[in-house]
Amino acid sequence: MRPDFEDILINFKKDVEGVKDIKSFKELRDKYLSKEKGIIPNLMKKIKQIPREEKPEYGKDVNLLKGQITNFLNDLEKKIELVELERKSQSERIDISLPGIDFFVGSFHPVKIVEKEICNIFERMGYFIAEGPEVENDFNNFEALNFPDDHPARDAQDTFFVSEDRYYLLRTHTSPVQIRTMKRYGAPIKIIAPGKVFRRDTPDPTHSPIFHQIEGLVVDKNITMADLKGTLEKFARECFSADTKIRLRPSFFPFVEPGAEVDISCIFCKGKGCRICKNSGWIEILGAGMVHPAVFEKCGIDSEKYSGFAFGLGVDRITILKYGIPDIRLFFENDVRFLEQF
Ligand code: DAH
Repeated sequence: MRPDFEDILINFKKDVEGVKDIKSFKELRDKYLSKEKGIIPNLMKKIKQIPREEKPEYGKDVNLLKGQITNFLNDLEKKIELVELERKSQSERIDISLPGIDFFVGSFHPVKIVEKEICNIFERMGYFIAEGPEVENDFNNFEALNFPDDHPARDAQDTFFVSEDRYYLLRTHTSPVQIRTMKRYGAPIKIIAPGKVFRRDTPDPTHSPIFHQIEGLVVDKNITMADLKGTLEKFARECFSADTKIRLRPSFFPFVEPGAEVDISCIFCKGKGCRICKNSGWIEILGAGMVHPAVFEKCGIDSEKYSGFAFGLGVDRITILKYGIPDIRLFFENDVRFLEQF
């Protein structure tokens, strides 16, 4: 007997309502269309049992039913795929408001931060950065800088020598970079030279055998002490604050004449006198002076034609002042609890 195609279609529609995802869709498709057990292929196989005269009608109806169900399933498949895609994009969605995976990047050492700041100030004034090695020779570190043979700075008490004959040593200041630059490039020159320097010293809150300096050197025609003072004034205002004053006190360094020690007005009490400036209102931050003719001579620069000024400042001391650090040794202990604060 011929099955009721209407019923099959009604059941199919009911089954369709149970389709929730791609899995249940495939089950439905197999139920109706799979070659072995599918309802439609079975109907087609049954055609043999149908009386001859009913066969054409039967065949036509089965094909019609098959067409309807296949079309419906094709449409349904597209819809299900869209639903699946949407579900996937929801479940794999990236929440950009969540914090990312954190990783440790470190930070600049406070002395390097201040070194960079100071270099930037001078670079804006047209200075170039120069460099020299930490292991120097006696000529660049002392002799060409006009240190007499018996100068106490040359004593083993004050200097780390690295060769038996005491010719090679760890530079005791950045001033030898003046010599290297003048010998190499001649006049005119406008450089700053940042770097590490070394002196035999017992560490305490204000002393360390390693520390940092920035050397400055300007050589040209008609350079005067007024240029030096103006430059340092500008530097002090930029480095500390616009109301910072400077003061030059006569002092001796063998490679300059005249030489001076340079103070800034106390950045804490603005010159009134406090604990930090020991009630003087002034804080010493650098040494400076006009390049000594003997130094020019050692470097092959004509001191009749050229003049220049030089200065050397202590970066650690300025960092200590700027950040209120109680002990210079903190800079060299590499304790991250200290370093990560910058
Ligand atoms: N080199 C000197 C020191 O370490 C500092 C210094 C003083 C540098 C006077 C200079 C200068 O260039 O002119 O104590």
